[in-house]
Amino acid sequence: MRKIVIAGNWKMYKNQSEAKTFFSEFPTHLKATAPQAAIADQQILICVPYTNLSLLQTILPAIGQSNLSIGAQNVHWAENGAFTGEISASMLIEMGIKYVIIGHSERRQFFGETDETVNKRLKAAQAHGLTPILCVGESKQHRDANKTESWIFSQLAADLVDIDQHNLIIAYEPIWAIGTGDTCASTEANRVIGLIRGKLTYPNVTIQYGGSVKVDNIDEIMAQPEIDGVLVGGASLDPAGFARIVNYR
Ligand code: 13P
Repeated sequence: MRKIVIAGNWKMYKNQSEAKTFFSEFPTHLKATAPQAAIADQQILICVPYTNLSLLQTILPAIGQSNLSIGAQNVHWAENGAFTGEISASMLIEMGIKYVIIGHSERRQFFGETDETVNKRLKAAQAHGLTPILCVGESKQHRDANKTESWIFSQLAADLVDIDQHNLIIAYEPIWAIGTGDTCASTEANRVIGLIRGKLTYPNVTIQYGGSVKVDNIDEIMAQPEIDGVLVGGASLDPAGFARIVNYR
């Protein structure tokens, strides 16, 4: 049985006071939009800037939503060391964090991350008991050149070397659909995710879709048989909208 994971990626948005405001409103909206209270085995996750992790971990118990977790947006592979600007898996574990995004296309595009460093980060996360969300996806140029499949397969082959697929989430995020409003057609996302699943040794890995997911398209996306959740950027910043996304029909 594949687990459904509805995740937000706040990227570099929301300072502490904005994060507190979000979490003062989100639970009310969650209850108001819930078709059947809470879907029992569905995980809700919000990956926030590092500066919000500790604060939100202390707020979480009062919310009383046991399937809601806070996650990080990256992690370094070393235990500690002279790596200015990075944080280690044990630093996340100390705060009770369980999930971390790794290999987001913005990290690969703007911060020089490669399949090799993504693989090292995945290994370190798993070695500490974190569940990584590995992001893969093609650019517009790859898609236009009919290289979508070969690009994603090469990312998977390199990123997943010696990775335990039983403790892994994958997010298919076509780069051209991120922050553009140009959502990948749900049937096409379903097709690519089916191909990704076909490359895995453990077929029950949760595979999400990400890229311009909104209130307007969540129901259609989640109706696709291969899609086990979403990784939501911009639309996860609004508590009412993200609650409706979590409570897709
Ligand atoms: P948007 O939902 O803003 O397109 O971002 C998607 C994304 O990058 C999630 O990681």
